[in-house]
Amino acid sequence: MAPMTARFTRRAGLVAGAAFVATASGAHADESTGRGALRDLADARGIRIGAAVASRPLANEPAYRETLAREFSSVTCENVMKPSFVQPAAGTFDFQASDAIVAFATAHGMTVRGHTLVWHQQNPAWLERVAAVGENPADALRDHIFGVVRHYRNDGPAPVPVWDVVNEALTDNGLMRDTLWSRALGPRYLADAFRWAHEADPDSRLFYNDFGAEGMNRKANAVHAMLRDLTRDGVPVHGVGLQMHVGIGAGHTPSVTDLAANIARLRAIGLDVHVTEMDVKLQTGTGGDEARRTDQAQVYADVLGTCLEAGVTSFTLWGFTDAHSWIPGFTGKPDGALPFDTAYEPKPAYHALARVLASD
Ligand code: XIL
Repeated sequence: MAPMTARFTRRAGLVAGAAFVATASGAHADESTGRGALRDLADARGIRIGAAVASRPLANEPAYRETLAREFSSVTCENVMKPSFVQPAAGTFDFQASDAIVAFATAHGMTVRGHTLVWHQQNPAWLERVAAVGENPADALRDHIFGVVRHYRNDGPAPVPVWDVVNEALTDNGLMRDTLWSRALGPRYLADAFRWAHEADPDSRLFYNDFGAEGMNRKANAVHAMLRDLTRDGVPVHGVGLQMHVGIGAGHTPSVTDLAANIARLRAIGLDVHVTEMDVKLQTGTGGDEARRTDQAQVYADVLGTCLEAGVTSFTLWGFTDAHSWIPGFTGKPDGALPFDTAYEPKPAYHALARVLASD
């Protein structure tokens, strides 16, 4: 367990026993706070609370839709805004799936974090080929960024005010990751991507997003240095996304001290900081499920509490129900990394988040 401040220990200690009740409005509330769903509590704090959304359960499961609309004020498309989905063939854009999620968000008063324009995964085969053989790869990347960002500026169901422009460009050692784009264009592809996104929509807030760079480690140092240099050079980068795919047990979550220090130094160079993809793996720890769920609630409480104090303005989970989480597919093991269980019942982690949001 990561070290934590006394404040969050005390508050989270109240969390585990909190009951979950339905209010007259149909919204759920944490009994111990007597207040509403996560998004209402987050509104009162002036932050967005978000979730990654998958198309199939959104279309097929009423409980998925209801929980999402009730609890969250921001959505991220888990997959369908990525290049392989939105530009499956060169010059042919397909926004059907992403528009459906954006329309749902708009209908429920939620904002959208656009994810993601430039990444080394989930690219269509044609784009991989263009980058590999050097057939004007800069034009292809620029056209992709323009196609997607302009759609959500002009013709989409709603504007997308925030984009993860570049995702996961660095290695754990803090070096430039070897990707189709670093090979095709060299390290300057980052600055180019941000400039093109800014040209496509000067009103959108543009983020660099990465994992494993939450605490004060080598990768976080490199992210900070890279963004400091880009900002100094006048590149339009406005924020950094800390993915926050963490777990219970020693070494699987940054200490609150390191997290606070990292957020502070990023904000000191003028960047907004968002948590973009949080989940907390249970299978990194030992002990029975109940103990693990309590430990998991503590991790959620520690991270959210630290982020609120440090000035994070948007806090997104990578999903919200264990019925639809990428973790089992990723680790190859069953897990339970999210605050709602597979039956959409809130877990101790849910109450922990509510409790921290409701605290002063
Ligand atoms: C993941 C999705 O959750 C999976 O469904 C997909 O198979 C692979 O991508 N970092 C990111 C996200 O930035 O886009 C990834 O999403 C998870 C890790």
